[in-house]
Amino acid sequence: TRITYIEHDGTEHVVDASNGDSVMEAAIKNLVPGIDADCGGACSCGTCHVFVDEAWQQAVGEPGEFEEPMLDINPERGANSRLSCQIDISDELDGLVVRLPEYQF
Ligand code: FES
Repeated sequence: TRITYIEHDGTEHVVDASNGDSVMEAAIKNLVPGIDADCGGACSCGTCHVFVDEAWQQAVGEPGEFEEPMLDINPERGANSRLSCQIDISDELDGLVVRLPEYQF
């Protein structure tokens, strides 16, 4: 499943991700910089923040109940913000584009 990560400076990383991994795990495994994931995917650190490309927002869906408060404390939060550890990769997300914030908080 192809996922494109775009760094804050515009650098693109196209990754061939495994279904079942999260968008965060695929970034870490493929050495994409810009995702810290301090909590290792437990939805409790907020340092795996990404902006989902507008065209993909519907496919990816809304933040979950426990994700919402973590996003809310982020000063850079936007309408398309998600925690990448909470997005599971599947065939439906083939071609997904996410943008990385300048810093992880
Ligand atoms: Fe910590 Fe996603 S890795 S919230």
